[in-house]
Amino acid sequence: MQVLIMGSGTAVAESAAERVSAVIAANPSATIGVATGSSPLGIYAALQRRVEMGSISFARASAFALDEYVGIPADHPQSYTSVIAQEVTERLGFDPQRVHVPNGRAADLDAAAEAYDAAIAAAGGVDIQILGIGANGHIGFNEPTSSFGSRTRVKTLAPGTRAANARFFESIDDVPRHCLTQGLGTILEARELVLVAQGERKADAVAAAVEGPLTAMVPASALQLHPRATVIVDEAAAARLTLTDYYRSAAVPLS
Ligand code: F6R
Repeated sequence: MQVLIMGSGTAVAESAAERVSAVIAANPSATIGVATGSSPLGIYAALQRRVEMGSISFARASAFALDEYVGIPADHPQSYTSVIAQEVTERLGFDPQRVHVPNGRAADLDAAAEAYDAAIAAAGGVDIQILGIGANGHIGFNEPTSSFGSRTRVKTLAPGTRAANARFFESIDDVPRHCLTQGLGTILEARELVLVAQGERKADAVAAAVEGPLTAMVPASALQLHPRATVIVDEAAAARLTLTDYYRSAAVPLS
């Protein structure tokens, strides 16, 4: 795993955007794994600037979102269907037909989950997956005790996750209790993972994911199993890491 400690949230976003840009420049039909929440918004803004400058295009690319709430309509402003349409599809110029979000409204959620994994496989897999991390160490909505082998499925949101996401809703009572989320096993199949975290609220989770034991109690520790995982954090989110000297020296290019 590579750990990059950046001087600002903007630098975190730029660094992650650089990786996504490299993938899309090498293969304009690449499949990008996209996340919602606050953490990746700077990445999308940085990518949008590149699109506007004409240096990259997502017109032929595909995207798969990590997760979706169960129990709110697709046109709810906080459904991930709406958020991805606004923040990713429109801003970056994806073809809406090639942007996929799990169907949290399906009558048969288990079948929808299975179909989602099948759609990722049919698209040839995810080339680069953008990830945020919950303060409890979740990635996607794989809450603590999620299996490292898990596939896309229905999960119950942890109380802390609902509390954290209440800022997007009128009250915590409006935050859905369930979701469909790619599993840890699904996420680990992406060819490259880029996890970003900003702020001291994420510092414990980042340290546990990067330097702690592999444990289902910290779902993001699954990144330790991936051959191409990069964790890009600002100084505040890096505050509980112990090997910072090493990460900083390893970030210097080979001469
Ligand atoms: C969102 C997702 C979550 C978030 C995490 C952090 O699709 O899968 O894992 O990345 O909850 O959320 P923020 O970035 O809002 O702190």
